Amino acid sequence: MNKSAEIRNQFIDFFREKEHTVIPSAPVLPADDPTLLFTNAGMNQFKDVFLEQGSRPYSRAVNSQKCIRVSGKHNDLEEVGPSPSHHTFFEMLGNWSFGDYYKSEAIKWAWELITEVWKIDIDRLYATVFKGNDEVQPDDEARDAWLQTGISPDRITLHGRKDNFWEMGETGPCGPCSEIHYDLGAKFCLKKDVKGHKCEVNGDCGRIVELWNLVFIQYMRDRKGDLHPLPRRHVDTGAGLERFLRVLEGVDSNYETELFKPLLTELVNISGVDYSAGDSGIPHRVAVDHVRMLAFSLADGILPSNEGRGYVLRRILRRAARYGREIGLETPFLFKLVDPLVEVMGEAYPELRERNDHIVGVIRAEEESFARTLGRGLELFGGVIERIGKEKKSVISGEDAFKLYDTYGFPLDLTELMARERNLTVDGDRFEQLMKEQRIRARGESKFEGSSAEFGMGLKSEFIGYTHRDVDTEILAVEKHGQSIEVILDKTPFYAEAGGQVADKGWIRWSDGEMEVVDVTRNGDIITHHCHLKEGAVPEPGLSIKVAIDWNYRLPIQYNHTATHLLHTALRKHVGMHANQAGSLVAPDRLRFDFTHFEKLTPELIEEIELNVNRAIREDYPVKWYVKPFQEALDSGITALFGEKYGEEVRVVHIGSDEHPYSRELCGGTHVERTGQLGLFRIVSESAVSAGVRRIEAVTGETAVRLALSEKHSLEDIADLLGSHGSDPVEKLSKTLEEKHNLEKENEKLLEGWAKGIAVEMLSEASQVNGVQVVSRLFDEVSIDRMKLIGDQIRARDNRAVALLASPVSKGAGQLCCVVGDAVVKDGKLKAGDLVSKAARLAGGGGGGRPHMATAGTKYPDRLPLAVEGFTEIVKKALGEN
Ligand code: SER
Repeated sequence: MNKSAEIRNQFIDFFREKEHTVIPSAPVLPADDPTLLFTNAGMNQFKDVFLEQGSRPYSRAVNSQKCIRVSGKHNDLEEVGPSPSHHTFFEMLGNWSFGDYYKSEAIKWAWELITEVWKIDIDRLYATVFKGNDEVQPDDEARDAWLQTGISPDRITLHGRKDNFWEMGETGPCGPCSEIHYDLGAKFCLKKDVKGHKCEVNGDCGRIVELWNLVFIQYMRDRKGDLHPLPRRHVDTGAGLERFLRVLEGVDSNYETELFKPLLTELVNISGVDYSAGDSGIPHRVAVDHVRMLAFSLADGILPSNEGRGYVLRRILRRAARYGREIGLETPFLFKLVDPLVEVMGEAYPELRERNDHIVGVIRAEEESFARTLGRGLELFGGVIERIGKEKKSVISGEDAFKLYDTYGFPLDLTELMARERNLTVDGDRFEQLMKEQRIRARGESKFEGSSAEFGMGLKSEFIGYTHRDVDTEILAVEKHGQSIEVILDKTPFYAEAGGQVADKGWIRWSDGEMEVVDVTRNGDIITHHCHLKEGAVPEPGLSIKVAIDWNYRLPIQYNHTATHLLHTALRKHVGMHANQAGSLVAPDRLRFDFTHFEKLTPELIEEIELNVNRAIREDYPVKWYVKPFQEALDSGITALFGEKYGEEVRVVHIGSDEHPYSRELCGGTHVERTGQLGLFRIVSESAVSAGVRRIEAVTGETAVRLALSEKHSLEDIADLLGSHGSDPVEKLSKTLEEKHNLEKENEKLLEGWAKGIAVEMLSEASQVNGVQVVSRLFDEVSIDRMKLIGDQIRARDNRAVALLASPVSKGAGQLCCVVGDAVVKDGKLKAGDLVSKAARLAGGGGGGRPHMATAGTKYPDRLPLAVEGFTEIVKKALGEN
């Protein structure tokens, strides 16, 4: 077994023996939490438990959690590269107590694991404790617990809110914490040469590093910034696996551990540039770090895009690609680091193996697309430098830096780096201000705000919408936000948007009032109804009410949800097992299904899929659901969707017989009872969403029938227009097209004859000017194309001819065409472009063109005779006749 697996297992086994339930890592894409972009701590998946909004069937838990820290309160991005121990992606080993044991056990056990199992030298360890502030008392309880372990009292240090009070985000669960730090040794001090420097815990010289954080969750911070004590006290610990690995392997940095070594080796192979622990190793560290963040995000269903999480992915990739250039890598290379990563982490995280091709494909495509914008970004940077040079300035403006960042993906540190190479600086303050403005805009657009976490705390609403459309129930809580009234009910048939299925709509009624439910959202066990008051006064908690969902809205949603499962099965059958769901929308009027696949589906394949789904509809399979333990469901081969959060107990939607299921998926959505209810399934479109992801849009039920009818009406209209009553319209259409083709050919011939006739006639009336035949004529509403045709005929008949043709083409417009025979062009004195422009001028217009043929236009068609009559004079002048 490799060392990282050993450490992970030892941690988990240690707490399993202390009656902790082992929990799988949640995806890095946080489910149901609009306050987070990425999972940033092991405790995220238990937030609802801390806030008493959800519960678990155990009170102690342990796991190793995939974490990403690139945004929000916990953002390590800028450290990655320079630092030997920071990462955008890392694994956090953690143990939890939910209202069970508290500080003394948490501290005692952490100490036991570190000093007895891992046998880390006590003389290198420190413990930190919260010293208290005006909000919270000093943590004497933790200090006493440390003294009990036998650690020397002078190795316990006290710190303030910044270091020893942990908060998940701007709002949410929080509390004082106690950390274990490790002294790497004097050689790791970055300030050895600074006079008077003293290495300290929580100092900034890099010698003493944090290994394990023990958080004692006992508060909730609300949107106003106030702390509220929680009903129960909890333990939440987190230890970075990569840091422990470094200490236990005895190497000089996280990047030299077995988790990163194979990636570094590959990178050195590709680039031919050796790795160093100093600054010249920054590009290497950035690349091998960032590829982990990208691979784990992609494996969990996040895709690069222009907004939200997808945008963060794009930026991280670009940061790595740009640093790659520093070691000469100008073509895509990051995707080549995926295989060694899967090799070293695929055992612990099988999703990497399963989606290996997808990860490689998407990273490669993104790198290729950035390679294209990078060039343009460098051009812009060059332009900025030139302008600054001219203006004799030495600062790149915040606006320019922001544009480079926003449009071309240049992170600020890279712009700064490139600026430094030219002895320039960047206005970072203005940049930050613009970033802040953008963040505020982004928050507004994507609802990433601290939702009302305190609203409904401790309440539970029961969802009964799998089996009920209406119910008599009671209001538990009400909050008014502007026009919207938020309501929590005891029981509700309303489905909150989840798993792609849109929220229900409907009504809440009571003796003297009514509200319309326009949206429904869910936070843990709390289902919030967003309502508009229609009649009566805002209702009070405790009121008895009747609620009903709009069944005409819900029923087609159910058709489309069941159809989505049938489509998923059909795709895996016809396209391949790699066709995984990458996103979906289940609405009443349509369904949209995104899946991982690299090529466009052929029309034949799309037809196969459509036939297959319709066959499953005609089979009229029963649809049922049951609840199972998560692991049992996975073991029996049930499809789980990536990017979804699953609890210990999961709901399985089962289509088909018990013995031969047609489809089984983990799903919380609502479905029909038999597939026959769908009636009909029609694919409307197939398109690309991004590299490696395709999209199918489809309709079912009455919408599908209406689609077929509207197609029929179009066909009837076509048949009407073709006059093909009774006969096959396709045959009639192909005959008509053939006739059209023949007529066109005939017309061409006729026109040629007509043009030839006029050309001959015009040439017969030509006047001779210095060996050149000059002709001109005014036509009556002849198009410019036809005049060109005549011009061509004149040139073909006489290579010493020069002609002007003119015609009014509408009330306010006239056109002119001039041709010059090849022999005259050769003489070099007459050019059609010059002649036509001079002639047009006589008619108040202008134009030009090539030497042998040119055209012009005028707004004064009644002046065209002047041009035609003056043409011979123009030619004479050009030939130097007079
Ligand atoms: N939540 C705490 C942290 O992230 C302990 O796990 O450090």
